[in-house]
Amino acid sequence: MHFGAFCALDSADFSLYSGRALALVGESGSGKSTCAKLLTHVLTASAGHIFHAGRDVTKLRGRQALLNYRSAVQMVFQDPFAALNPAHTVEHHLTRPLALHRPDLSTAQRRDAVDELLRAVDLDPAITLRKHPHEMSGGQRQRVNLARALAVNPAVLIADEPTSMLDVSIRLSVLDTFRDLKRERGIAMLYITHDIATARYVAEETAVIFRGRIVERGPTAQVIDSPRHAYTRLLLAAVPEVGSPFGAGNSLAPLAAQVRESCDRPGTLREVTPGHWVRFAA
Ligand SMILES: Nc1ncnc2c1ncn2[C@@H]1O[C@H](COP(=O)(O)OP(=O)(O)O)[C@@H](O)[C@H]1O
Ligand SMILES: [Mg+2]
Repeated sequence: MHFGAFCALDSADFSLYSGRALALVGESGSGKSTCAKLLTHVLTASAGHIFHAGRDVTKLRGRQALLNYRSAVQMVFQDPFAALNPAHTVEHHLTRPLALHRPDLSTAQRRDAVDELLRAVDLDPAITLRKHPHEMSGGQRQRVNLARALAVNPAVLIADEPTSMLDVSIRLSVLDTFRDLKRERGIAMLYITHDIATARYVAEETAVIFRGRIVERGPTAQVIDSPRHAYTRLLLAAVPEVGSPFGAGNSLAPLAAQVRESCDRPGTLREVTPGHWVRFAA
């Protein structure tokens, strides 16, 4: 993906599978959100292809085709507050997408469906329905965002750093809900994060991205326990310091400088063990 002369995403080859998640891991500025925007058709790729249900998404034309695709591919964003309208209740946030997606439901059935969505994300309908966003915690709001995404029965769910703005103490329980729901509902999930340690809780597969290129991809346990690329090792070493890029003043800065230099050439991806791909200098 090019923004003028700047290339934000260059080499990102991966597949998503029903009921499974791929974690896309990289530091700030590595091209993760650009990838999400391409998948949701917010941006149009300057090159390359995206396939969904046998069709090339980059060639989708026409309002109806785009609407259908956008409802099949749902997004949960980083900021749980910005995504909800402060003037509306939780019930309103969930009733609207249901009314659009399931016009066949009666009012009573729609009410039941809203309750069911809230229970699916571990919120109590009796307590939550009438609340406004400001009356809930960040974690509860993110659960509402997840319920809203589920309301249209998506095939694909893209979660762009869904817990990075939440209190550390509740992150794992929110990620557990994402993991369970994608499995139960057969949703293909892309879990975007800068925190490689959390990939283990959500994703069967992990891809590490550096400056717009995937440098390592494979089963999550292998990528985390037997990392082969220097940048993956750097991310793992930096786990206690996540959140800030490896800048000056950071104990990993010298190692980071070395890794960056060795990563600057495109190189080639090679399969080191079945399903585990690593980019090597050409
Ligand atoms: N609309 C845009 N115009 C120009 N540059 C952009 C635009 N969007 C993103 N970028 C740049 O592309 C790179 C990747 O950004 P992004 O995908 O947001 O990274 P991440 O989500 O991994 O933090 C960054 O260097 C960012 O500044
Ligand atoms: Mg981002």
